[in-house]
Amino acid sequence: MKTVKHNVHYHVGNKAETDMYSEVIQGLKSSPKKVSPKYFYDKKGSELFEEITMLPEYYPTRTEMVILNKYKRDMAKAVGADSALIEFGSGSSEKVRTLLGAMTDLKEYIALDISKDFLYQSACALSMEYPNLQVHAVSADYTEKFEMPSLQSKRKVVFFPGSTIGNFERREMMQFLKKTALFLKQGGGLLIGVDMKKDHAVLNAAYNDKKGITRKFNLNLLNRLNRELLANFQLEHFSHHAFYHGEKGRIEMHLVSLKDQRITIGNEEITFKEGETIHTENSYKFTIKEFQDIVIECGFTPKKVWCDERKWFSMHYLEVR
Ligand SMILES: C[S@@+](CC[C@H](N)C(=O)[O-])C[C@H]1O[C@@H](n2cnc3c(N)ncnc32)[C@H](O)[C@@H]1O
Repeated sequence: MKTVKHNVHYHVGNKAETDMYSEVIQGLKSSPKKVSPKYFYDKKGSELFEEITMLPEYYPTRTEMVILNKYKRDMAKAVGADSALIEFGSGSSEKVRTLLGAMTDLKEYIALDISKDFLYQSACALSMEYPNLQVHAVSADYTEKFEMPSLQSKRKVVFFPGSTIGNFERREMMQFLKKTALFLKQGGGLLIGVDMKKDHAVLNAAYNDKKGITRKFNLNLLNRLNRELLANFQLEHFSHHAFYHGEKGRIEMHLVSLKDQRITIGNEEITFKEGETIHTENSYKFTIKEFQDIVIECGFTPKKVWCDERKWFSMHYLEVR
């Protein structure tokens, strides 16, 4: 029997999640209560997100894949085979396969994600499919300083699909983009997927699917806090609430307390009033102009933008000035 070997180089980019307890407590003690969406992604959370991407209501993944498939050659040219391709929040590394199909000569791919076990599993599968590609898996929180493996290629291009950029508040987003520009250096590229403003009914349906997978994904955060931070949330006492806030241009996702209750988490006690929520995610939507204005302020030059026919999703190629 022929055994297929993988050739993944593993790296710890930073000690992602070492401050999880203090960050979560701080968020739960603030008013309104909040927890960063980066904590959705334990292994179960990453698997549930994969299920979300296949839901009929969840248009972003399908639409971004249509754009990638249609324009992959232009995108591959913009990336350039002599660059190292670094994917932030790589998840299953599914989308990059489309790009790789259009650039068989790319030498280095670096998958970077906070969800360590899922990252290693995905990088391993990718490496077996592309034996000539040097694959690195870096477990790191990209909002913090992180170490990179030494690379052969001088030029770097970051691939950041999925509109994960929309999870940041404006100030954090600008900080992140400026830091990414410094990391890439002059001439480096950023290929980024950005969800667009559209009919509110389409947006609301995407985060309130009929099968209830987004609900499970949201509630899984509490399971994770129970398991990893010794909390005692009872999931049946919380419900999923997601809606589009037109003025703010964002989807908000919350966990709503269904009664007055008190929970413990480690040595801390947190009280909830009935109807009080934990704000778990924002997902901002942008017009092309709104997004380009921001990136220009952060040191990038917009070079290309590709959209689907309905103008539901955009992919931007930017270069550091
Ligand atoms: C919305 S999913 C997108 C996954 C994939 N890129 C896609 O387009 O389908 C966000 C991904 O980013 C990762 N992620 C979220 N916050 C992160 C952080 N602060 N640092 C590193 N990875 C993060 C998650 O683990 C997850 O894989």
